[in-house]
Amino acid sequence: MPAADSTALLREIARRRTFAIISHPDAGKTTLTEKLLLFGGAVLLAGTVKARKASRYAASDWMDMEKKRGISVSTSVMSFTYAGCELNLLDTPGHQDFSEDTYRVLTAVDSALLVVDSAKGVEAQTKKLMDVCRMRKTPVVTFINKLDRQGLAPLEVMADIESRLGMECVPLTWPVGMGSGFKGAYDLRKGELRLFSSARGEKIQEALVVIRGLDDERLDTYLGDQAEDLRADMELLQAAGTPFSVERYLSGEQTPVFFGSALNNFGVRELLESFVSFAPAPLPRPARTENGEVRLVRPEEPEFSGVVFKIQANMDRAHRDRMAFMRVCSGCFTRGMRLKHHRSGRESAVSNAAVFMARERSGAETAYPGDIIGLPSHGTIKIGDTFTEKNFLKFTGIPSFAPEYFRRVRLRNPLKTKQLQKGLAQLAEEGAVQLFRPLEGNDYILGAVGLLQFEVMVSRLAEEYGVDASYEETGVSAARWVQSADRAAFAEFADYYRQDLAMDAEGALAYLAPNPWKLESAEERYPSVEFRVTRETG
Ligand code: G4P
Repeated sequence: MPAADSTALLREIARRRTFAIISHPDAGKTTLTEKLLLFGGAVLLAGTVKARKASRYAASDWMDMEKKRGISVSTSVMSFTYAGCELNLLDTPGHQDFSEDTYRVLTAVDSALLVVDSAKGVEAQTKKLMDVCRMRKTPVVTFINKLDRQGLAPLEVMADIESRLGMECVPLTWPVGMGSGFKGAYDLRKGELRLFSSARGEKIQEALVVIRGLDDERLDTYLGDQAEDLRADMELLQAAGTPFSVERYLSGEQTPVFFGSALNNFGVRELLESFVSFAPAPLPRPARTENGEVRLVRPEEPEFSGVVFKIQANMDRAHRDRMAFMRVCSGCFTRGMRLKHHRSGRESAVSNAAVFMARERSGAETAYPGDIIGLPSHGTIKIGDTFTEKNFLKFTGIPSFAPEYFRRVRLRNPLKTKQLQKGLAQLAEEGAVQLFRPLEGNDYILGAVGLLQFEVMVSRLAEEYGVDASYEETGVSAARWVQSADRAAFAEFADYYRQDLAMDAEGALAYLAPNPWKLESAEERYPSVEFRVTRETG
């Protein structure tokens, strides 16, 4: 790559922020996303959140299932610009029945934005996603939402986050009151208070009154008794609070916290301004090279490389296509570029890639590290696949996650066995469910991290493969991939637990535990065997 191009590449990398937005359902993720896009000037939607949710179904919810259930199963990618930065926002499906895809989205980002409902604190689904962030040391910014409603005291919400998510909370803004007494938020770094004014809808309303410093008399005029509370809170935070450290944020130990109300556009600007200033630009990613060594691939390396982290089926019903979502890891992608698909060894010109905006797909001309592009696929691309211009690379860190729910597949029409096998294998490749074949017997056992995936699977088997299938309970409560360097011990383990062993779709051996106690006792009995909750794909 010529010198001028490499300067351009560096510039583009520096202005990118690729992040996932995470919350428990109803915490306000959709609302905040909409407001982020609004501040970024990306999408001007008519109507309220409700209208947006309703209209979104028509455009971006591809499966009938989603429409029937009134939820979004798929993951959206949205890009917008703010303060000269290009932000790529990856949504994580916000329903209780979320899928492995939701976890895997977190492997494609450099940081995350956590939305917490101030009245509810941290909820179960959030904790699971944050476990993945912690495992990967992903930096997290926290937005505590719905301050216009009565909620928990700010210190209480932060204590909840600290104890449940294991991150130190450092407030960068501080709320004055809540519910009907919500008066605004004090920016601790700028030392100024923005008074709250209710501004629903799509108009970006600037805070009408900004008061600088705690000594300003207007503080007492506007806040009354709450002025003294704010001064006391600030004194307390200064004396006992932990200072914000960008390094500790970047290593995932500390999370900067913002308070606001997404519905009222309040606190969103402060959040965005800080986010673009300290959230990481695209980071290097580990990959295996041709000789088996693992090295960090830096985004500024001139050769293009990208990794597939998600396959979405039926984005366009008319074409029955699938879309492979690829994160650009290094170099620059240009339309028509010849790329090598290393698992298949095939090389082809990519002229039909797509970039994702909130509600539409548009053709990608160029893409830089951190950007997400969509490659149309007819089933040849798998999760974890790497594409480069020339040299062999296999990115690591795009794992499969141990499922938590299991079903045995029953075929109602035995003449369709072949179609069932094909359907299960292809759908499992998309990665939302996992397929296990027990070593004993002829069963097909499906595993998923959310129950909804089983319904999706049965309806897709019927629609796309003409297979009428149903489920039975399995008596499996957990799955762990097993391996050991101690061959003798492993053989003994495999012999003893043969009844409970199964191969996954990629031929990796898994122990399907009938209950948590059996799992525990197997782990105790065979300390040299590793029982893994994740497995590298490919
Ligand atoms: P989600 O994507 O995380 O599931 O949450 P979503 O944004 O859909 O918000 C869930 C509900 O919370 C919505 O109400 C939304 O209007 C409301 N909400 C979001 N942010 C705020 C906020 O800052 N303050 C208050 N008071 N409410 C907020 P809904 O009743 O489900 O829908 P709607 O009838 O309001 O449209």
